[in-house]
Amino acid sequence: MIRRVEVGLGDRSYPILIGEGLLGSLGMEVRARVPGERVMVVSNPTVRTLYGKRAEESLAGAGLTVVWAEMPDGEEYKSLATAEKLYDLAYTLELDRQCPVVALGGGVVGDLAGFVAATYLRGVPFIQVPTTLLAQVDSSVGGKVAVNHPKGKNIIGAFYQPRLVLADLDVLKTLDPREVRAGLAEVIKYGVIADGTFFAWLEENLERLLVLEIEPLVHAVAVSCRIKARVVQEDETELGRRAILNFGHTLGHAVEALTGYTAYRHGEAVAIGMVAAARLAVALGMLPEGEAARVRDLIQRAGLPVETPPELSTGDLLASIYRDKKVLAGRLTFVLPVEIGRVEIVRDIPEEVVERVVEALAGCRGAC
Ligand code: NAD
Ligand code: GLY
Repeated sequence: MIRRVEVGLGDRSYPILIGEGLLGSLGMEVRARVPGERVMVVSNPTVRTLYGKRAEESLAGAGLTVVWAEMPDGEEYKSLATAEKLYDLAYTLELDRQCPVVALGGGVVGDLAGFVAATYLRGVPFIQVPTTLLAQVDSSVGGKVAVNHPKGKNIIGAFYQPRLVLADLDVLKTLDPREVRAGLAEVIKYGVIADGTFFAWLEENLERLLVLEIEPLVHAVAVSCRIKARVVQEDETELGRRAILNFGHTLGHAVEALTGYTAYRHGEAVAIGMVAAARLAVALGMLPEGEAARVRDLIQRAGLPVETPPELSTGDLLASIYRDKKVLAGRLTFVLPVEIGRVEIVRDIPEEVVERVVEALAGCRGAC
């Protein structure tokens, strides 16, 4: 069962292929899209050990020569220093503009490899082979590529679309269950922001997804990618509507930043942020309480956190929220649900309302 989702961006359009065993056709798919004979595959030791051989055999089988560019595993290596090492390697081996960069890994590898592809020789072809659920439903799609700066995450980056996203669902079987749950946070996000029917389907099928049952998994990844593709087609460079993909990210980023990007997976922090955003919408009279409860319940059933960590004070969280890059021209922006399946981008929310909600999230541990 292979699903194909198109990202329609004119001459930069590309397919997302979703299914089992797709790694075996990587070589053929790359060959069909790029002229170069040599391929730089960016990965980390964890993923390369598991899937490097399979990827290389497929690429070699299609007559391509593989150059491995390995980066250490970890968010802290999504940096300019790592990118520089990859530029050095590419230049030393005389990789030219025809040679594609293939990202084989999760969002960290994908973001960094994409940044290198966007900037080496002013841009070389880029292929995404996402190996985490989060990367398959979110980071590999839509062209946001970046490295971190010591002062903040994803500060240095570009919009640079891949030529292909190849999402092999088999590789998810080796993921730590915590990573599966973190990916599911983004899947739930799509239901809340754009598709109430999908959200209801998730309520029905969550347990099957948690154990990676293939049929519901294909559906969940395909629907998620379709929703993201639609949003990106409408607003590729986030001048407006694309911001809805940041649902849950305002408080989520604050939690991640204040805990040093180590205590929480990105999806876990977003989960807390989604619960906060739903509560905020209730506090503003935009969303019925019962709908916010559904959002919270599903997130909790997925084994994701729904409260801010006890060590973070409301003051610290608020200070971080107001520093967040989503403060557009000095105005705080929240993406808030008005029903499950529809969100609005809301600015200028009174600070005392935000404070009340953040306080409530910290104050109701386990009880709400
Ligand atoms: P990650 O890339 O760090 O991967 C998580 C862990 O899983 C790593 O240790 C990795 O080595 C391991 N792993 C990957 N695939 C595996 C597999 N198949 N089996 C076993 N282990 C595997 O984390 P992530 O959650 O995939 O990505 C997070 C990154 O994505 C962050 O840097 C975030 O900023 C970025 N992101 C980008 C976008 C975007 O639009 N570009 C969107 C969301 C998140
Ligand atoms: N993950 C948010 C976006 O791609 O816009």
